[in-house]
Amino acid sequence: MPNITFIDAQGESRTVEAETGSTVMETAIRNAIPGIEAECGGACACATCHVYVDDAWTAAVGPAEHMEEDMLDFAFDVRPNSRLSCQIRIRDELDGLVVRTPERQG
Ligand code: FES
Repeated sequence: MPNITFIDAQGESRTVEAETGSTVMETAIRNAIPGIEAECGGACACATCHVYVDDAWTAAVGPAEHMEEDMLDFAFDVRPNSRLSCQIRIRDELDGLVVRTPERQG
């Protein structure tokens, strides 16, 4: 199973196992990762699952789609590597993925 590392705004790192086919957001919720709220449950309708994809992983993860781009406008402190974690589906190639959670959501 792919491993994903979440680093919070204070620099604390947590590495957890993810299921292929699930999303980064679902992995965070299942493992009680702080800093991911996911109020809409993964429908791309709340922007409270915002993460920053580590620069080494942005190409592998790929860009946000149009609907996600629109929703990211509502996220706090959006950067070029911002993504909504409910829209990142786990593939085997993402083993080792590193994402950072923002200081706050929304
Ligand atoms: S969980 Fe609501 S947009 Fe991702």
